[in-house]
Order: sequence, then C-alpha cells, then structure tokens
Amino acid sequence: MEQIDLSKLEVIAAKYFAQAAEVHDTAALETLRLAFFGKNGDIKQLQKGLGSVVAELRPQYGQAINELKTKLESDFVALKDKLEQAAHRAKQASEQIDINLPAKGTELGTLHPITKTIQDMEHIFIGLGYEIAEGPEIEWVKNNFDLLNIPEGHPSREFSDTFYLNDKICLRTQTSPVQIRVMQNRKPPIYIICPGKVYRPDTADATHSPVFHQVEGLVVDKGIRMSDLVGTLKYMAKALFGANTEIRLRPHHFPFTEPSCEVDVTCWKCHGSGCPTCKGEGFVEVLGAGMVHPKVLKNCGIDPDVYSGFAFGIGAERVCMAHYDIADIRYFSENNLRFLAQFK
Ligand code: PHE
Repeated sequence: MEQIDLSKLEVIAAKYFAQAAEVHDTAALETLRLAFFGKNGDIKQLQKGLGSVVAELRPQYGQAINELKTKLESDFVALKDKLEQAAHRAKQASEQIDINLPAKGTELGTLHPITKTIQDMEHIFIGLGYEIAEGPEIEWVKNNFDLLNIPEGHPSREFSDTFYLNDKICLRTQTSPVQIRVMQNRKPPIYIICPGKVYRPDTADATHSPVFHQVEGLVVDKGIRMSDLVGTLKYMAKALFGANTEIRLRPHHFPFTEPSCEVDVTCWKCHGSGCPTCKGEGFVEVLGAGMVHPKVLKNCGIDPDVYSGFAFGIGAERVCMAHYDIADIRYFSENNLRFLAQFK
C-alpha cells in the first residue's frame, strides 16, 4: 500500500494554472477541460489512485483531491465565463449598427404636375378668401346643360361633344355644373373655386385630350361687377404667370354668363413680342369668363335683383403646360416616369 504524496496535488494545481493562463479561445478551453476533468484527466487519475492508498489515509487523501477538484473547477467555470463574455462582446461589436453610414433611402414619388398646378391655383384663391367646392364627374344632364341655360339643340349637347350614360346622365363636359350645385345648396355670399376632371369626345393630339382638368371660379354677392372679375383675373394671371403678365379680354358667348369673354394672358414664351406658341399674337387664351346670367341665378333660387356674380373656367393643362414649358398634353396621361420624375 502506498503512502500519500500531497505534493503531487500541488504539481497538478500548478500545471493547471500554468495551462489555464494560456487559454484564449474555446478550443484551448476544451483541451484544458479534457486534460484535467476528462475521463483520463489528471483529477480522474488521482481519484483512480485513491484505491491503492492505505485505508487510514484514504479519507484525508480523498478530501484533498476533492478540494483540489473544487478549486480547479471553480477556476475553470470562471475562465469559461470570461471567454464567453469576451466572445459575446466581440460579436456585439461586430454587429453594431454604424450610424455614420448613409441610409439606403426610400424612393419618394412626386405630385403629378397637374395636381401641383391645381394646388397652385387653390393657394392663390384660398389667399383671397375663396373656398374649394367639388362635384361629381358623372353628372345630371340638367346640371351640365339645362340649368346653365344651355338649351336643347345647342351644339355642345350633341353626342359628338358629350359622353352620355343615358338621356339624363353624362360625363360632365365642364366644371360649371358645380356652380349649380353650390348655388342650389347655399345662399350668397359665395366665393368658391372647383377644380376637377372633365370629359369630351375629342381625339387626343398635342393640345387635345378626352379627359382634362378645369378650375371653375364662382363669386355671387351683392354689388359684384365686371370690374371685380377683371381685377380678380389680373391678380390670378400675375400670381400664376409672373408679375409682368397682362390680360386681354375678348367678347365671347357662353349661355350661362352675360356678358361673356375669353381671356388671354401675355405669352409666357415671348413675353408679348410674338412667337409660334402665341401664333404671333403676343397673347395666349387661357380661360372663359363672364357675369353669371340672371337666368342661372334664378334657376338656383337666387334673386338676380339682389345679387350678381361672376364666373370663370380655366384649363389646368393649359396653365401647367405654360408653367413647365410642356409641348404635348398627352405626356400628362402616359404615366412615363422619365417625364414625371422631372417635377420633383
Ligand atoms: N365652362 C366653360 C368652358 O368649359 C368655361 C366658363 C366657365 C366660361 C365659367 C364662363 C364662365 O368652356
């Protein structure tokens, strides 16, 4: 039977700590574990040797082995923790979001140029105290024609000029029926503009489209005169086309206004000297206008002896083409991103 040699334990402890000091990764940690705590590790070897120790010394020796085992194991666990934490920190550092990197960015679209032009006009008139009114694109024939004093047999009511859904309903050919809807539903003072789509059976070319937009204006109040219309249109023309813009009124006929006029503005291309855009005129027609016909006021229950008003209708495409120098009205509806992206 052997005597015990406690110095052997000290040697193993020293060997363990020397090796542990060199462990910097999980592979080395595993080698360390096998060398000391594995099936054939040093601790197991010591425990196996316990059987050959004399019986009286066995408990003392066993206890010494256990103490060594506990001591080395607790160091091993601490070392393992330390390595895991370091690995975790390294992983975190490598995954950190670098807020200095530029973001990928979202592709934002842009408002359609016609929408922009309509908004420009809305802002001008909201600044003058007007409200915005809307009406349906599918409209009663009565509102689109009859109540606007456009009699049966008028050329604009022909099938060739109006899309009919049946004999009572059509696609509105103008925004003027919104005048009727507003005047039927409220009493003056009325200061409104009505932007929206209108439809006419036209073949599309550079300046015509079966669908386009108008912005209708309507004022009904006491003492409204032609000079109020002229002043308002002058203000709008300058706000839309620039401070040097002048307007020119030419007598015209609309069944729902009396007197009526067509309104031209100084050519935005040549500023009045004459060019192909204005066909040498120096002016370009942009809208129709006039004093609201007394019959139309009466049709809507407004007394023409008390109230008077003016109305106008502008083509939004016209204004937009002028503003952005666009040559062909068909660009607006082709949905070509190379065209649309230019309005960012
Ligand atoms: N509705 C007319 C058109 O489409 C324009 C207009 C509106 C004229 C209001 C006078 C008054 O041509």
